[in-house]
Amino acid sequence: MNERKTFLVFGASGQTGRHFIALALREGHAVRALARRPDKITLDSPGLTVRRGSIDNPADWADLVPGADYIVAMLGDKETQKTKMINTAFVRELVPIMRRHGVTRFLYQAGGLSRVPGRRLSPLLWAFRATVARSFEGQHRDNEAVMRYLTEEAADLEWMVHRAGIGSDGPSKGTLERSADRISIATFRDCADYSYRTVMDAGAVRTCDASSYRR
Ligand SMILES: NC(=O)c1ccc[n+]([C@@H]2O[C@H](COP(=O)([O-])OP(=O)(O)OC[C@H]3O[C@@H](n4cnc5c(N)ncnc54)[C@H](OP(=O)(O)O)[C@@H]3O)[C@@H](O)[C@H]2O)c1
Repeated sequence: MNERKTFLVFGASGQTGRHFIALALREGHAVRALARRPDKITLDSPGLTVRRGSIDNPADWADLVPGADYIVAMLGDKETQKTKMINTAFVRELVPIMRRHGVTRFLYQAGGLSRVPGRRLSPLLWAFRATVARSFEGQHRDNEAVMRYLTEEAADLEWMVHRAGIGSDGPSKGTLERSADRISIATFRDCADYSYRTVMDAGAVRTCDASSYRR
């Protein structure tokens, strides 16, 4: 039995988020979740508390921060992110609130096509981003701005970024491991499992690594 922890999850109704909260609840933890449409979260568990609200309104969620052991963001809104850096604005609000309440650990799930500050994407990944994944450009830029902000202005916190590569919502294809240079096309389930293990891993603090299946 794991020690019972409290997770605050943003994006719990999303494709990765719903696997994440199911796993955390199965493992015996308490989960606080923010959702614009709570009815999209169909899980029913005494460990789960769902709050209606939006990340762009801190009044909706700021009081969920105190007492959280781990904060996890698996957020995306492709259309809005074409013109607005909503995730960056949210993380800029969240970090000072975490500091005020002594909450230190935060995992942000980004994508493998987002550049780590100070590093380049491989030519292959750039080509993929500029063609097949072009419609997600706003999301990549928003995720990159979050990574820059955390790197440059939140070095006092225990954040980590998971640069996920996701291809399907199928069953597990294996166990993902942290990698600075390899990325796998994984399932949402496996990415949720990786993010769950990684947010508790002190060795992942202040990294922006990708996830890759164990060989
Ligand atoms: N999908 C992929 O193939 C893929 C691949 C690699 C990396 N990623 C990255 O993984 C992360 C999560 O992606 P995903 O595909 O798992 O997510 P998703 O299915 O697109 O879900 C996004 C989540 O964000 C929530 N959200 C969006 N705007 C919100 C707001 N204003 N207030 C509150 N909640 C809001 C959504 O809530 P609602 O239910 O209310 O909309 C939903 O729960 C993103 O950073 C993405 O770039 C995704």
